[in-house]
Amino acid sequence: AKVTFIQLNGDTVMVDAEFGQSVMEVAVNEGIENIIGECGGTMSCGTCHCYVDKDWLNKLDSPSELELAILEGSVEPNQFSRLSCQIRVSNALDGLIVSVPSAQF
Ligand code: FES
Repeated sequence: AKVTFIQLNGDTVMVDAEFGQSVMEVAVNEGIENIIGECGGTMSCGTCHCYVDKDWLNKLDSPSELELAILEGSVEPNQFSRLSCQIRVSNALDGLIVSVPSAQF
């Protein structure tokens, strides 16, 4: 499946992702800027914050209470904010577009 990352300078990077990978893992493997994923996807660091494209947001499972709490503490959260470690690549998400945040700390 394809995942596209929109970088801070506006450039897009389209990546081939394996089903079942998290978007955080995809980003880290590709060296996408500002997606860090320090905790390895256990929802304890918040450094995988990203902004999901508005057309994709409602295709994702709703965030858990814990995810929402972590997002509140991230840099410049907004209505499109999600933890990329909680987004699993799937057929339904083929073509997903996310933007990277300006910072994670
Ligand atoms: Fe740590 Fe997502 S990788 S919360």
